[in-house]
Amino acid sequence: MRKYKFMAQNKALPELPQALISDMSQSMSAQSPASKKLTVPSFRARKNETKLVVLTAYSAPMAKLLAPHVDALLIGDSLGMVLYGFDSTLPVTLDMMARHTEAVRRGAPDTFLIADLPFGSYQSSKEQAFESSAVLLRSGADAVKLEGGVVMAETISFLTARGVPVMGHIGLMPQSINQLGSYKAQGRDAGSAGTIKEDALAVEKAGAFSYVIEGIAESLAREITMQAKIPTIGIGASAFCDGQVLVTDDLLGIFSDFKPKFVRRYAELAPQISKAVAGYAEDVRDVRFPSDKESF
Ligand code: KIV
Repeated sequence: MRKYKFMAQNKALPELPQALISDMSQSMSAQSPASKKLTVPSFRARKNETKLVVLTAYSAPMAKLLAPHVDALLIGDSLGMVLYGFDSTLPVTLDMMARHTEAVRRGAPDTFLIADLPFGSYQSSKEQAFESSAVLLRSGADAVKLEGGVVMAETISFLTARGVPVMGHIGLMPQSINQLGSYKAQGRDAGSAGTIKEDALAVEKAGAFSYVIEGIAESLAREITMQAKIPTIGIGASAFCDGQVLVTDDLLGIFSDFKPKFVRRYAELAPQISKAVAGYAEDVRDVRFPSDKESF
């Protein structure tokens, strides 16, 4: 936030010494998502700084479109629902995650990439978590994300001690859908709010460089973010988090089966796609496509 104010003021700077202006513009470009790929330390350093912008990406062309505008891309296991049509993220495999991570890396060679460890690829042992993380790092991820707080703390310590940067994921954890019963907001009573706070502390203490907080009330997100020394990335967790992540297909209105309360649609592409495809179908049937210009 502070750095963006700087940018606006820069227009009125001609009377400042050139050295100072150049110094300031260097610090601005260090903040610009398009200019320099984030690293784990520079991601961490954004705590209480300019908000971190994260979006999901699953394919090379989409990654290419998103990369200039974001600080990081998440190859989320949400791809199971968004791309593959599963009704949860549980059927997503490590192999799917690896293939999509490779594709996103090809589309966004200079962007910080976080890849989700899918259900069943990290919960049974620390060693399993390391092996699975190695697959995703070899596929082009800079970091992995895993769901779980206190229960995953030992695994996070094991991974980070062995060179695997870990982003945590607490609050609403979609891989626990069978236990939760529905994707409802978490931490609504004092007991479960306390558990989420313990999860946040455990993940940070274990060495995660950041964590996603999903589906919790503003007051709890605020409290957690204020006590955290690492950036919190919110999804349905209020503007108090140090950054935000959304599923790109939600933001673009491509995935239109339902719209969670926390989603803001910046485009409505589903009806546009439908209209375009209907136009194509009509033209083919009425022999208006291809025309002479589109033929050899
Ligand atoms: O899988 C995913 O896309 C995610 C985000 C929604 C945080 O975990």
